[in-house]
Amino acid sequence: MNMNVSTDMHDALKRASERVRALSDTLGRTPTACVITFGCQMNARDSEKLAGILETAGYRIVEEESADYLIYNTCTVRENADNRLFGRLGAVGSSKKNSPWKKIAVCGCMMQESINVDRIRKSYPFVDLIFGTHNLYTFPALLDASLAPENEGSMLIDVWNQEKGILEDLPSRRKYPFKSGVNIMFGCNNFCTYCIVPYVRGRERSRKRADILEEIRRLADDGVIEIMLLGQNVNSYGLRVPEEERRLYGDFPSLLSEAARIPGIQRVRFMTSHPKDLSDDLIEVIRENPVIARHIHLPLQSGSDRILKRMNRIYTKEKYLTLAEKIRNRIPDAAITTDLIVGFPGETPADVDETIDVVEKVRFQNAFTFIYSRRTGTPAAAFEDQVSRETAQEGFDRLLGVVQRIAREETAKNAGREGLALVETVNENDPLLVTARLSDNLLVHFPGSAEDIGKMIPVRLEEACGFYYLGKRVARV
Ligand code: SAH
Ligand code: SF4
Ligand code: F3S
Repeated sequence: MNMNVSTDMHDALKRASERVRALSDTLGRTPTACVITFGCQMNARDSEKLAGILETAGYRIVEEESADYLIYNTCTVRENADNRLFGRLGAVGSSKKNSPWKKIAVCGCMMQESINVDRIRKSYPFVDLIFGTHNLYTFPALLDASLAPENEGSMLIDVWNQEKGILEDLPSRRKYPFKSGVNIMFGCNNFCTYCIVPYVRGRERSRKRADILEEIRRLADDGVIEIMLLGQNVNSYGLRVPEEERRLYGDFPSLLSEAARIPGIQRVRFMTSHPKDLSDDLIEVIRENPVIARHIHLPLQSGSDRILKRMNRIYTKEKYLTLAEKIRNRIPDAAITTDLIVGFPGETPADVDETIDVVEKVRFQNAFTFIYSRRTGTPAAAFEDQVSRETAQEGFDRLLGVVQRIAREETAKNAGREGLALVETVNENDPLLVTARLSDNLLVHFPGSAEDIGKMIPVRLEEACGFYYLGKRVARV
């Protein structure tokens, strides 16, 4: 992206700030803004950028939907994600009557589908601004326009149907001061037949290595100790750029190992790696480097070769099992977690048995289990052998039972273990406890206070409670 865009955005932000200052004078208080996020870590990171821009423009960031500027950053990966947005919009519309200056914006993956934009246009006319994933970085200009008096009462819609590169250096406001996501790539080229992501996030683009590492250094200087490298398939980082530019990227294992060496960074996570191209190099880099989290999220989706083929996942059950075994052998303390889909077109109970078989063999520490959701525009949506809701639910219940039993059994094996836990919050139900995560993503609650938030604390796991632990502090690990 060229300099002009950056300068334009800077000017737009200045204009927006003047409008926010004027609103502040009228209201006699600092106006508030709230970004509600649905969906994955990428959306969460995008929301931090939106909040950063709003904060730079002069808003006070809050968590309540009663805010003066409200943004919904949407997800469309499954149908229930869509329904959640419409439910919330229905509830929030009337609040504009009492505060006519209030602005409501909707952005993110759902807005890349024209059917959703049309629905908002018809049924939720009070929405002030709609934009998509590809022009998120123009939000300073959109913010300015949405606050302009001449646009009062109209709905601004700006959705691009194609990505246009990457803009570096947007301000951001992190949800947690001590940890942060870091995008290493955007978009996806894999086109799994059930998945809408490639259509709403565009083609795969990697950020330059120097830009990524510089962002991590800046985050470390700002007190961040844990980062999560984000991409739809981190294994293909840097591999799709023209030969002559390759040295500006390198590959994922080398990026990961360099990120883990940045002073101040105590833990590096990543999400997600596709089983089709997880390399031995990557396994070695993780094995050799204790700063890299002992956790590999390795979405299986299905254990049936027939279904995997129709999903366009490019691996077989056997190949997945071999890979999982290699990881277990080389990094015995790493947790392997996964995503599973039940009810994909043409799936039979025998196919679900195959998935259950993999769950039993790999013994996932945790698995997200989803019922297949038919996404308009994806190849699988046009498959004729869609599975009935009842059959899918039956398979789902059967699979979930096994997934949960094994996750519980695997959790129980950790009793007595000691490790470093990064404290994230004070426990919601018991203010005398804090909630923290170990390197392998296991959750532990132990006595503590708000002072501990953001610290890496040595703990012993004492009592397994289903999927998490109660623990206590130890002097060192
Ligand atoms: N890029 C990641 C996944 C991102 S989407 C990967 O390939 O691993 C997160 C998860 O949502 C997927 O792993 C899949 O299990 C689930 N998912 C995606 N599309 C879905 C659909 N149409 N129905 C049900 N689950 C879906
Ligand atoms: Fe979707 Fe597949 Fe890309 Fe993951 S790899 S985002 S599941 S298309
Ligand atoms: Fe959802 Fe978009 Fe992420 S569809 S899962 S928010 S990339």
